[in-house]
Amino acid sequence: MIYQGSALTVATVGSGMAELCFDRQQDRVNKFDQNALLELDEAITAISDQKSISGLLLTSAKDSFIVGADITMFTDLFRQPEDTIKAWLKTANDIFCRLEDLSLPTVSAINGIALGGGLELLLATDYRVMANDAKIGFPEVKLGVIPGFGGTVRLPRVIGADNAIEWIASGKDQNPQTALACGAVDAVVAPEHLRQAGLDLLQQCMAGHFDYQKQRSRKLEAISLNKMEATMAFTTAKGLVAQQAGPHYPAPLTAANAIEKHAFLPRDEALAVEADAFVSVAKTPVANALVGMFLNDQAVKKIAGKQSQGTAEIHRAAVIGAGIMGGGIAFQSASRGTPTVMKDIQPGALETGMAEAGKLLARSVEKGQISVADMAAVLGAITPTLSDDALATVDIVVEAVVENEKVKTGVLAGLEKMIKTDIPLVSNTSTISISRMSDSLERPEMFAGMHFFNPVHRMPLVEVIRGEKTANSTVATVVNYARKLGKTPIVVNDCPGFLVNRVLFPYFSGFGLLMRDGADFLEIDKVMERFGWPMGPAYLLDVIGIDTAVHAADVMADAFPDRMSVESGKPSKLMFEHKRLGQKNGRGFYRYQPGRKGKTEKTVDPEAVELVRQHFDGDTAFDKEDIVHRMMLPMCLETSRCLEENIVASAVEADLAMVLGLGFPPFIGGPLRYIDSIGTAKFVELCRAHQHLGPLYEPTRLLLSMAESNSTFFA
Ligand SMILES: NC(=O)c1ccc[n+]([C@@H]2O[C@H](COP(=O)([O-])OP(=O)(O)OC[C@H]3O[C@@H](n4cnc5c(N)ncnc54)[C@H](O)[C@@H]3O)[C@@H](O)[C@H]2O)c1
Repeated sequence: MIYQGSALTVATVGSGMAELCFDRQQDRVNKFDQNALLELDEAITAISDQKSISGLLLTSAKDSFIVGADITMFTDLFRQPEDTIKAWLKTANDIFCRLEDLSLPTVSAINGIALGGGLELLLATDYRVMANDAKIGFPEVKLGVIPGFGGTVRLPRVIGADNAIEWIASGKDQNPQTALACGAVDAVVAPEHLRQAGLDLLQQCMAGHFDYQKQRSRKLEAISLNKMEATMAFTTAKGLVAQQAGPHYPAPLTAANAIEKHAFLPRDEALAVEADAFVSVAKTPVANALVGMFLNDQAVKKIAGKQSQGTAEIHRAAVIGAGIMGGGIAFQSASRGTPTVMKDIQPGALETGMAEAGKLLARSVEKGQISVADMAAVLGAITPTLSDDALATVDIVVEAVVENEKVKTGVLAGLEKMIKTDIPLVSNTSTISISRMSDSLERPEMFAGMHFFNPVHRMPLVEVIRGEKTANSTVATVVNYARKLGKTPIVVNDCPGFLVNRVLFPYFSGFGLLMRDGADFLEIDKVMERFGWPMGPAYLLDVIGIDTAVHAADVMADAFPDRMSVESGKPSKLMFEHKRLGQKNGRGFYRYQPGRKGKTEKTVDPEAVELVRQHFDGDTAFDKEDIVHRMMLPMCLETSRCLEENIVASAVEADLAMVLGLGFPPFIGGPLRYIDSIGTAKFVELCRAHQHLGPLYEPTRLLLSMAESNSTFFA
């Protein structure tokens, strides 16, 4: 053994070769924290000291090579002065350069995934062999930053500037075929041959069959474009990046600019340019929010893991109702490996449900994501039926019939008599109280809510609703099932609207009051989209479905008449009364028509504009900032109320639910992080400035006390 650390080891292999193997102790994955970097430095020194070693192979003993840097340290690190961040980058870069400058050939063998710092390390070696099921990539922009361990320097010199900009700016994982075609790796082999292929390649280098010095030298020099070619390439690439990233995500364009700036510089100077660019984005609120989001996501997954510990395995599931939601849930369940019974009372609904599943699967086959055999297996795992016979053997039942309390309680009471007594019965209701529905059941402790979002296969969030009588063990099994479906479950206590809709409807109330006071709905949408929402409130109402929104608004107005009054729901009511149901019938606040390539296209509808004009003034000019405040304050206040009333257990879960369930702008991080970014005291001041609009804008007790103590939701 040449070197033994807690994150990696170096041992001799065969004659004259050494293997540096990453194998972080007491962890499932390899990642770069301070200790791993330090050990890498020591290992390189140990290798240099061994004069008998003339070739080095880098491998991993884990399922993946290296998943990247240790992101838990980013929050603190990014708050440090610029020089401290640069010193951290320089330490890592000096180590990677020492690896690159070793006086012997280096080869890395990539298994599983190698992302961020993991890929940057690979690029510092001379050759790369990749397993045919591995993935590599630079996901840094998803955290609001750019590669900082030489990624922007080495990648364009290895695969060309245009490819490198595309890889880095998109943040996407790259498959072995693309990696090989671009020249990011030199060979792709079956996983079981990976290590041997790496050793063979190394031996060839040692024998002088491959010129590893030439491989290396291209990474130390300028990119291989002349000035004219470079100008053209960068102008085109940067235009594309700016367009795709949009105004709220500066990292992709910063990466492209950095690559352009250091394109003709030697390695060490280029690394200094990269470091400057890294610091400029690391210090932005966007990076702070995106890193926070990532950590929230990890924390919520950990919570769900704990919540579902020790629950019984779900071998078979049943979904009742094969409509939009039931069909989607059955498809998701089967495609994630749980055979699922899909029951309806109408043969037509079953046929549509199966046809929809078939369409989704066919699309995945077309994209090469699954094989035809996989498609057949998933379809075979859904059992469409009109009969109740199969229900006696399933391990969970999800009710997704029409949103009518009488129908639902009747269906649920009937189901309870047919299913095993010790399995959860859940409802996918969006508005009906779980506690109230449980009153008509014999085993209320086995009953919970499971609120999926539409379309089920795409939306990552599932609210798991705990009714007053729901047992902990029921919650645990439901959380477990949601995880099995590949969803992020967040457990919330029962209340009207649960968590997500309860927070969404005050936002719509803000919209209603703005319209009452004469704002133009097209302008409101424009301002909120510019603020960062994927769609403005009027467009969102159309997508949800005006009938669904009106029904939910009535439920919310009943429950919270002070804040979510009928008055504030008037714009959607107007659409509803004129049979403008939104996207589903092609007419709502906007008009929807099938466009080119079959995609629905949204256009301004003069009829809708005229209709609104007859009932609302629409001519009052509002300051853009005021529109944002009048929309966002009610949403943020309601989120804080839900935390105060223990509807949701933590700020982390509340914020993540809004990003995953509503499309809250990720670069802001969630309503509570938004309050933090404004400052609690300033936020309360803003609420007070709007209090003449009614209780919708009244600061909560929690916020008042936080403002007094100058505290924040996130550390
Ligand atoms: N559509 C959404 O965006 C959305 C989102 C979240 C939750 N939900 C909730 O999901 C549930 C279903 O909504 P949907 O949009 O899928 O409705 P849908 O009208 O598309 O489907 C309902 C299905 O239930 C079937 N059904 C009715 N009575 C039945 C019975 N006794 N046994 C078996 N099947 C029966 C109907 O035939 C129909 O196929 C509702 O509670 C709704 O509030 C809907």
